Amino acid sequence: MTASQTQPATPWQLARRAARMNPSVIREILKVTERPGIISLAGGLPSPDSFPVEAMREATARVLRDNPSEALQYAASEGFAPLREWVAAQMAEQGLQVDPTQVLITTGSQQGLDLVGKVLVDPGSTVAVEAPTYLGALQAFAPYEPGIVTVDCDDDGPLPAGLSAAAGARFLYVLPNFQNPSGRCIGETRRAALVDAARAARLPLVEDNPYGDLWFDAAPPPPLAARWAEGTVYLGSFSKVLAPGLRLGYVIAPKALCPKLLQAKQAADLHTPGFNQRVVHEVIRDGFLRDHVPTIRARYKAQRDAMQAALARHRDDGALAGCRWTTPQGGMFFWVELPGHIDAAALLPKAVERGVAFVPGAAFYASAAKANTMRLSFVTVAPDVIARGVAALAQAIDSMR
Ligand SMILES: Cc1ncc(COP(=O)(O)O)c(C=O)c1O
Repeated sequence: MTASQTQPATPWQLARRAARMNPSVIREILKVTERPGIISLAGGLPSPDSFPVEAMREATARVLRDNPSEALQYAASEGFAPLREWVAAQMAEQGLQVDPTQVLITTGSQQGLDLVGKVLVDPGSTVAVEAPTYLGALQAFAPYEPGIVTVDCDDDGPLPAGLSAAAGARFLYVLPNFQNPSGRCIGETRRAALVDAARAARLPLVEDNPYGDLWFDAAPPPPLAARWAEGTVYLGSFSKVLAPGLRLGYVIAPKALCPKLLQAKQAADLHTPGFNQRVVHEVIRDGFLRDHVPTIRARYKAQRDAMQAALARHRDDGALAGCRWTTPQGGMFFWVELPGHIDAAALLPKAVERGVAFVPGAAFYASAAKANTMRLSFVTVAPDVIARGVAALAQAIDSMR
């Protein structure tokens, strides 16, 4: 027997954590939606019509004209100081007083989730999440090998009494504003009760807020971090108010955590591209977002209304009888509960046959997944296309009765 016959084909041995890495269900579905003719209600991709192309072009030219060497050089791991100051000032307007040194600029808020996992999670420790929760956070935490516990939730978010399930957890990961995937927004009273319960249980919070600026009629209440600054790590993002391709987000942490988050960031990528940071700061420094964000809100509100109208129409004609949803007051998503016997994963191929795609909800649960749920995004396609997509979906659902 030759050596090549006895040895495994590959010399590589994967780390234990690699076994916990899984392909994102959403990315797999997005591949389907790239097929011509499919109406995608699946991805949470911001509308490209909302990208501030001209402002970016002008800001890029100014950065390259005025600070080319600095913009193209290695830079500080913490981030571009004026951008950190801008973020701190912005948070003060929302009731959270932070020093700019507490702001760490990250490569998207997705990196913030990874850094939080790296710094706070040991193998076998516990992380608490909502049901459902953001799939990308589950993916980010998984390699650090936590046990995940789920806190009971209702339409207003996590139930304060549910925090007993999270006793001893390293933190509760929570999305107070227009949650991905459920679209729910935690009201003022629930926020107060939740923070009181978390504080009493000494359960820190990781507050993820990429959608808070995308409200339709009224701004959401102040962040949880404003109620318990020393017990909350807050994550923000420029992806939904400017463009996700910039990969620009930030972590605001209590001072005690900042050095470790910074060291984790250094090891991960030295720093977030300084060029992008300077361009974005150049775009937003003089109040650009004050005019720009309302245009995104108006666009998404019209698209939300189109989806709401289409869903209601097909409830009235009977195709969506037995389905339940609440109308999101901001963000990007409707969350639909189908009649109990319909598995959304089984529904998906039938919907794709009819030319529409969505994300089955089960992937958004850390445990006890509700298979009869699905997430519909209303931001990527135009209102008339949304109407056609929902009509096709309603047909597919009706076919499963
Ligand atoms: C809840 C949530 N957190 C974080 C992210 C990551 O965003 P970013 O583009 O800032 O990395 C997303 C992206 O969709 C999200 O929905």
